[in-house]
Amino acid sequence: MQEKTAKNEPYPLQVEAGKTYYWCSCGISKKQPLCDGMHESTDCTPLEYVATKTETVYFCGCKQSENGPLCDGTHKKL
Ligand code: FES
Repeated sequence: MQEKTAKNEPYPLQVEAGKTYYWCSCGISKKQPLCDGMHESTDCTPLEYVATKTETVYFCGCKQSENGPLCDGTHKKL
């Protein structure tokens, strides 16, 4: 199964320095943009993101970003 676009824009999320987050790469998690274990029925695996700063980051919602879990603007070309 291919990844599914969850939303055609990024999800802003406040992250905390030193914490690990698991970004949903399959697009079917109900806890977007993070993994809720739904990928187990797919070939996808979540990507780990370790926050180096406490800040708002923009996780990719379209699941097509070339920049791992973060939005790189690819959604604008879809
Ligand atoms: S939401 Fe996927 S690249 Fe922006």
